[in-house]
Amino acid sequence: MRNRFGTLVISLVFASAAGMSAAAQEPPAWAYAIPPAPPAGSPAAAQPAPDTSLKRLPGSNFEFTRAQISNRFGPADWFPGDHPTMSDIVARGKQPDAWACGLCHYPNGKGRPENAGVAGLPTSYFIQQLNDFRNGKRKSAEPRKANTNIMITIAKALTEHHQSLVDIVPAAVQSTPEHTIRHAVIPLHPGVEQYFREHGYLK
Ligand code: HEC
Repeated sequence: MRNRFGTLVISLVFASAAGMSAAAQEPPAWAYAIPPAPPAGSPAAAQPAPDTSLKRLPGSNFEFTRAQISNRFGPADWFPGDHPTMSDIVARGKQPDAWACGLCHYPNGKGRPENAGVAGLPTSYFIQQLNDFRNGKRKSAEPRKANTNIMITIAKALTEHHQSLVDIVPAAVQSTPEHTIRHAVIPLHPGVEQYFREHGYLK
């Protein structure tokens, strides 16, 4: 009896330790900008009326509404003097999936805090990252992290808008699926191969 009780206590200790370590391994949702789930059974929150007031920033002569600031295909450019003329993909993107790079990385490439800074990156690294996002080799450890997933969709969309990519990184001229397939010296990564098959570049 005593033995059996002892075994039960030990099993409970192990069970709760396993539960605790599973919870401890769960990444904190706030760190990945995952909105907390509403309490079970609560009614859907009413959408607030859109804020149409004009916003200003110290040092900028412009004013924009919230909708203009976060326009995916033409976001606000607060400081047009602090960067060279933007190429079309940076300023306006390509409908429907290639959002304007300037929305998240800013027109000057320095990037919002929650996104990466891309100004001054070595060309080969820049192209490699876009290829890796597209080919499933670069993703967030937290699959619900929305902005990384959007970046992945954008990198995929750039395959269909190759000239736009070449406009910002001329060295990307050879970074086409056709060129990669023709000149592959080692077997394609399974993620690349799957992408190329799904999109008809490989039969
Ligand atoms: C919705 C916001 C968003 C938009 C729009 C966006 N990106 Fe990104 N981008 C990100 C995020 C977030 C990351 C970092 C992803 C990660 O590592 O989790 C990133 C990373 C990158 C990187 C890698 C940076 C590094 O240091 O490794 C490159 C290159 C890049 N983006 C290029 C582009 C280009 C080119 C465009 C426009 C065609 C674009 N991005 C549009 C959000 C965005």
